[in-house]
Amino acid sequence: MSDIYVLGSMNMDMTVVSPRFPELGETINGYSFSTAHGGKGANQAVAAARLGAKVNMCACIGKDANGNELKNALNDEGINTDYVFESDCATGAAVITLVDGDNTIIVAKGANAEVSIHQAVFFLKDSKPGDILLTQLETDFETVKFALQTAKNKKMITVLNPAPADSDSSLLCEYCDYIIPNETELRTISASEDIDYSLKLIKDKFGCFPIATLGSQGCAFYSENGVKYLPCEKVKAVDTTGAGDTFCGAFCTALSNGWQTEDCLKFALKCATISVTRKGAQPSIPYLKEIN
Ligand code: RIB
Repeated sequence: MSDIYVLGSMNMDMTVVSPRFPELGETINGYSFSTAHGGKGANQAVAAARLGAKVNMCACIGKDANGNELKNALNDEGINTDYVFESDCATGAAVITLVDGDNTIIVAKGANAEVSIHQAVFFLKDSKPGDILLTQLETDFETVKFALQTAKNKKMITVLNPAPADSDSSLLCEYCDYIIPNETELRTISASEDIDYSLKLIKDKFGCFPIATLGSQGCAFYSENGVKYLPCEKVKAVDTTGAGDTFCGAFCTALSNGWQTEDCLKFALKCATISVTRKGAQPSIPYLKEIN
């Protein structure tokens, strides 16, 4: 079994459940407010750890109560937090609006933007060929790029969840073995609305294995035999926050066990499907015993 190295964000999530999304300039009354541990990097690390992987986390938090709480939570999951550094910026925060289980998210990166190339080098120093680097785009872009390049040179398996994506995200594809965008991110990277075309484009142009997460429709991927869709079980979604992260963490855990790609995807779908039936990012992530 290989180790998983997650370089990514740690956020305190602040969620308001609302009857609808407000219009520009409008104030509306919501139903409830809650906080939960989040951040795409930390969520993916927690998913991998709960599903049985050996996980190392590299991130940056502020010298504040939120940062302390988030780091302690990762320690409690058995994740190695020796590479969770402190900066003078505030710990990252996410403002989430939740309407009928769907969300919009605004992230204030704060300390997440401070993860440096130097820290990434230190983080990856003990990794071995076959270990997995899993990363996203809520931390500094150049650091993510450097980490992917370094991991590739070290013959690690590189996995990018390009979230949130922008026009530069495609520059990272050449360093990735797997790229896991959702539909919005796929559109941004390929500049096309067509899922099949976009997946083929990424595969042909960059040679990496593209996987699109499609919410309640499951996922799609491109292999030698063309585009294939894998459905997921239909459930009542109460909160989709962190479902993509659960998918990525579960996918990497299955990869670290040496499974075939399609089996990894089925496992990841199962885990993500459970997560949407529960509230919050990290609180909703399932444990291995629930999957078995
Ligand atoms: O993917 C969900 C996550 O996105 C939330 O936990 C929030 O912190 C943002 O990073």
